Amino acid sequence: MSDERAVLKGTALPSPALTVAILYGRPDPAASADEADTVTQVNAVRQALLCLGHRAVDVPVTLDLAAAAAALRAVRPDLVFNLSESLEGKGCLIHLAPSLLDGLGIPYTGAPAEAILLTSQKIWAKRILAGVGLPTPPWVSAARALGSPPPFPGPWIVKSVWEHASVGMEDTAVASDAAALSAEIRRRSGREPLDHLFVEGFVDGRELNLSFLATDDPEAPQGMPPAEMLFLGFPEGKPRIVGWRAKWAEGSFEYVATPRRFDIPAADAPLLAALDGLSRECWRLFDLRGYARVDFRVDPAGRPWILEVNANPCISPDAGFMAAAGRAGLTAGDVVRRIVADALRGRPAARKEGSP
Ligand SMILES: Nc1ncnc2c1ncn2[C@@H]1O[C@H](COP(=O)(O)OP(=O)(O)O)[C@@H](O)[C@H]1O
Ligand SMILES: [Mg+2]
Repeated sequence: MSDERAVLKGTALPSPALTVAILYGRPDPAASADEADTVTQVNAVRQALLCLGHRAVDVPVTLDLAAAAAALRAVRPDLVFNLSESLEGKGCLIHLAPSLLDGLGIPYTGAPAEAILLTSQKIWAKRILAGVGLPTPPWVSAARALGSPPPFPGPWIVKSVWEHASVGMEDTAVASDAAALSAEIRRRSGREPLDHLFVEGFVDGRELNLSFLATDDPEAPQGMPPAEMLFLGFPEGKPRIVGWRAKWAEGSFEYVATPRRFDIPAADAPLLAALDGLSRECWRLFDLRGYARVDFRVDPAGRPWILEVNANPCISPDAGFMAAAGRAGLTAGDVVRRIVADALRGRPAARKEGSP
């Protein structure tokens, strides 16, 4: 059994220990909770790497990519654990760090730079999904929606093209008429460029997240138990969304009223099987590696819609991915070991060729 295989099966520590650089976008000292979460994630991954017997070195990245390259050359890592989510607070710079690693020829964990770019840019991700017939809600650019109502029925939701973690998403994101939609686009375009916003058909229904972790077959990740986000006691008219407050404002109504459950009724087995199949199509379509989470809504007719594909989802201890992994009986150490083992296998060139 090779070292890597032994590591994957959990039967041995890697031999020799690896030097792993943990790469992340340095958060602004005045960062909001979503950005500051990067530090929690870095700490959790560092802890797991050390427990696995590796050496871990933090490499924060800013727009000074030359400095990051110099730091990486000095560390001479065997592998980079890529936790970069945004650079200098900008989601649209998310792919710069992994692209730099490609340029330097350093192997790294999780999705390749191209997959990160294409899944993070939500309109491109939707174009690619729709192009192969995968169900994603209809959409239109925010600029077009300002001129005339979207060419599909409301309600609508205004979303950020690049930002994740529900940044900027408040209740007003969901609009039922053209006036409310325009007002929300104007409000949001005060903090994000207009072309970084888009409008999507609002799917008023259940929300489920499916998480996947690499196995020794890059085409066949292990599915974690599906999670459902519940909307408890939402007053009539309050949009049922997992917006910024639901994710980050601990103690707020939205935070408390949107618990995650794993005990999904047995009658939903066909739905869960459909979501699993769709998620695996996304995994192959975008060339995902390591770990991923796909977010769905299910409309009142029972049809699933892909909201987004999260390459390299958050793996902080309280994040959805780790909750699902824990439910599958995996520790943080198991998750990190499997992500590292997957990265050590390298990128199979064959997967980049031919049709999906
Ligand atoms: N089309 C939609 N229909 C219903 N709810 C949506 C839709 N798009 C987003 N949401 C809500 O907004 C949340 C955040 O949107 P999402 O697309 O997952 O972006 P991100 O998590 O990257 O901020 C979702 O978890 C969901 O609650
Ligand atoms: Mg999401």
